[in-house]
Amino acid sequence: MRLLFIGDVVGRAGRAVIIEELPKLRAAWNLDCVIVNCENAAGGFGITETICADFLNAGADCVTLGNHAFDQREALVFIARQPRLIRPLNYPRGTPGGGANLIETAGGQRVLVINLLGRIFMDALDDPFAAIEQELNACPLGAVCDAAVIDFHAEASSEKQAFAHFVDGRASLVVGTHTHVPTADHQILPQGTAYMTDAGMTGDYDSVIGMEKDEPIRRFSTKLPGNRLEPAAGAATLCGVAVETDAKGLAIKIAPVRLGGRLSQARPEFWEEKIPQTIV
Ligand SMILES: [Fe+2]
Ligand SMILES: [Fe+2]
Repeated sequence: MRLLFIGDVVGRAGRAVIIEELPKLRAAWNLDCVIVNCENAAGGFGITETICADFLNAGADCVTLGNHAFDQREALVFIARQPRLIRPLNYPRGTPGGGANLIETAGGQRVLVINLLGRIFMDALDDPFAAIEQELNACPLGAVCDAAVIDFHAEASSEKQAFAHFVDGRASLVVGTHTHVPTADHQILPQGTAYMTDAGMTGDYDSVIGMEKDEPIRRFSTKLPGNRLEPAAGAATLCGVAVETDAKGLAIKIAPVRLGGRLSQARPEFWEEKIPQTIV
């Protein structure tokens, strides 16, 4: 299968590049499954039902979240009727929505999608290692699902790496989100799980993690309360990771994706494009 995971979409700039480019990428790379982290899609904080629908219509099979999952209160309600919107699995019992789901793609493949929060420099939550054990045992790769993608939303690279090795050979892809900065360590782990510590954000990189620079600089330099954080509005870089899996659901190819905006560009060379480059 050909999988594309896209990191945290931030604000209007991030949404615009998804709506514009995702349909073209889906066709150009002949993608089987696209997963997009949208925890910052609504003004930098959370997701609305309209935005979620826009992303699913643009070609996302599934949308994941993170620590900002419920910043827009409406998400507490509509998540119950949108099984393709997945919030962190290790929230307390009784949290609306689900943290794992078996998604059927347009091509009929079954993809297990799981979203988890790390615990280092994050709010205290249930153990993500214990939580993943249960889910993977219930839905083994290659038997019950054709691919398993885990969005591990966490701050610390050590926790992300340890987690990826913990599930190596049992998931198709473990990809980190939350830091909003893409890492250069994309690789296939020894037992066949594709891994990248952070996918990076889909937003304007002339910013402080997607937000207009002035307010974060002011907060760091003065330590005084001030204005609201607003998403930066310049052209976004679509950031993520492309993975191809084999018949067992394990990874055989991985490449970073960085398209448009300010960052150096990267696209999977191993997929022959059906149409010319989508972003110049
Ligand atoms: Fe984020
Ligand atoms: Fe986050």
